[in-house]
Amino acid sequence: MKSLKHLNKYFLKYKWHFLLGILFTITSNYFGVRMPLFVKSTVDSLMSDIKIESINDALLISLKIGGFYMLLSLAKGFFLFLMRQTIIVMSRRIEFDLKNEIYKQYQNLDLSFYKKNNTGDLMNRISEDVSHVRMYLGPGIMYSINLVVLFTLVVYQMIMISPSLTALVLIPLPLMSFLIYKVSAKMNFLSKKVQEEQSMLSTIAQESFSGMRVIKAYSQQDSVSDKFENAANTYKNKSMKLVVVNALFIPTILFLIGLSTLLSIYIGGKMSFTNEISLGGIVAFIFFVNNLTWPFASIGWVTSLIQRAAASQQRINEFLWVKSNQNIENETEPYSFGDHISFENVSYTYENTGIEAIKNLSFSIPKGETFAIIGKTGSGKSTILALLLRQLNPDSGEITIDGTSSASIKIDGFKNALGVVPQDVFLFSDSILNNVKFGSNNPDVTQLEIDAACETADILNTIKQLEYGYETLLGERGVNLSGGQKQRLSIARSLLRNPEILVLDDCLSAVDTETEDKILKELQKDKKERTTIIVSHRISTIRNAKHIIVIDEGTVIEQGSHSTLLKRKGFYFDLYKKQQSDLKDDMIDDGNEIGI
Ligand SMILES: Nc1ncnc2c1ncn2[C@@H]1O[C@H](COP(=O)(O)OP(=O)(O)O)[C@@H](O)[C@H]1O
Ligand SMILES: [Mg+2]
Repeated sequence: MKSLKHLNKYFLKYKWHFLLGILFTITSNYFGVRMPLFVKSTVDSLMSDIKIESINDALLISLKIGGFYMLLSLAKGFFLFLMRQTIIVMSRRIEFDLKNEIYKQYQNLDLSFYKKNNTGDLMNRISEDVSHVRMYLGPGIMYSINLVVLFTLVVYQMIMISPSLTALVLIPLPLMSFLIYKVSAKMNFLSKKVQEEQSMLSTIAQESFSGMRVIKAYSQQDSVSDKFENAANTYKNKSMKLVVVNALFIPTILFLIGLSTLLSIYIGGKMSFTNEISLGGIVAFIFFVNNLTWPFASIGWVTSLIQRAAASQQRINEFLWVKSNQNIENETEPYSFGDHISFENVSYTYENTGIEAIKNLSFSIPKGETFAIIGKTGSGKSTILALLLRQLNPDSGEITIDGTSSASIKIDGFKNALGVVPQDVFLFSDSILNNVKFGSNNPDVTQLEIDAACETADILNTIKQLEYGYETLLGERGVNLSGGQKQRLSIARSLLRNPEILVLDDCLSAVDTETEDKILKELQKDKKERTTIIVSHRISTIRNAKHIIVIDEGTVIEQGSHSTLLKRKGFYFDLYKKQQSDLKDDMIDDGNEIGI
């Protein structure tokens, strides 16, 4: 239950909703209790002192009684409406705030958090867990307050009529609460299972839709259908179990209500012979008992609801309390790259796999230079960049920027000076224009600048040839660009930021060598004082860089310019020979996959 404390600040924020809610609950119940009492006095007076002389008299009396009863129930209903309007509205507002709080936290967390947790988990906390918490904040709280108020008012009135009968008819109620608690716990458990199966089922469906091309290419329609059918079957069986429990639920409650009513009539009837209770009193008792049943039934339900909310809030808190490794600064100070970036004996091991991706790595990148990192796939190139961008923090060693440890500089400012083209391109389901503009710091960027960035990335012609040009929608419902086109768009995006330091992570891998050359030349021309860090597994991409470091198994094994490295006849030379002969093979095959 401790985990729910996190929500107290929200109760404070919405204290007026909360207090008004309590007031309306009391008022509504006050009218609710008046109703049986009114029935009692009517029955009692009908039994004794009212003399009916004509049909008209009877009609008038019935109208009066009916009218008054209706007024009471209207008043009860009106305040019931207000009670829901305050408490349920409060729960929806807190839900909104909580979702935003979680989302903001998600944005603050660094990438290592996202490497540890899967997307489904992140989504669940913000949707399902929050909705569990809301059920506690809304119905949970509302029914609890209602029970306390109603119980106090009703039991007081019952005792006023007959203390002994009160004691007797209340006996089945706690039993009922307990039973319902057990049943709703079971129901929650089963519906969780059903939900799991449901998400399993939608994962299978979703994967098979997006992988339809592969499924058809391998003629695997039948096996995929079987898999789906099996999952649907499990889902059906689990749902059936839930249906049984659900079906038992209402009859059990009705049985217990019946029992209490029976007790009221039987024992009340006996007591009326000895004039311990009036006939109206018995009628009022039946009303009261019925009034109490649902709130009592809700105790069990609310208890399991609160338990579920506590577990959910616990999970939410786990994420909310994760401290981001990055220093979170609100204002970004403009940052200007001065002189050099250095790695000094940096090591990094991926926690989850235990892979030591970077070992004792040292090198220095001077300002204004084109600096290249080459190595086979898996040698640690992307990890170096993640460390540079502070997405990961070194286990040992230090990364310095202009002599200052990168851990102590204001990271947002530094990031603004960077233009990063990641290895795997990510484009949003949005127009080409918005995708290119994404991340641009300048709100009034001109079309001319956008065109220039796209020209340098050699994608402008492709865009112009599209029917809707820059307004072309990308993503699931839009056009599908080829791998190389996506990479070039991603380069244009980072160029538009006009970065002081441009970082290209193997982002020309799907572009043919000719286009690659063109883009690299344009980049050279584009801005002389820019520092460019090119990462690639292909020598053709980096051969013109001023300084090249060769990475293998997370450490520098050779370095120098293209010509000096070739002269060494080492690792780099072998790689070069191999890639040249591969290129020839490709041309002989004439089936070259590279290019667009
Ligand atoms: N998120 C990760 N979790 C665990 N291991 C990783 C992760 N990313 C990369 N690695 C491992 O670290 C090593 C270096 O990977 P990476 O830096 O991506 O190499 P490159 O970019 O040179 O292909 C590889 O052995 C890879 O399997
Ligand atoms: Mg990589």
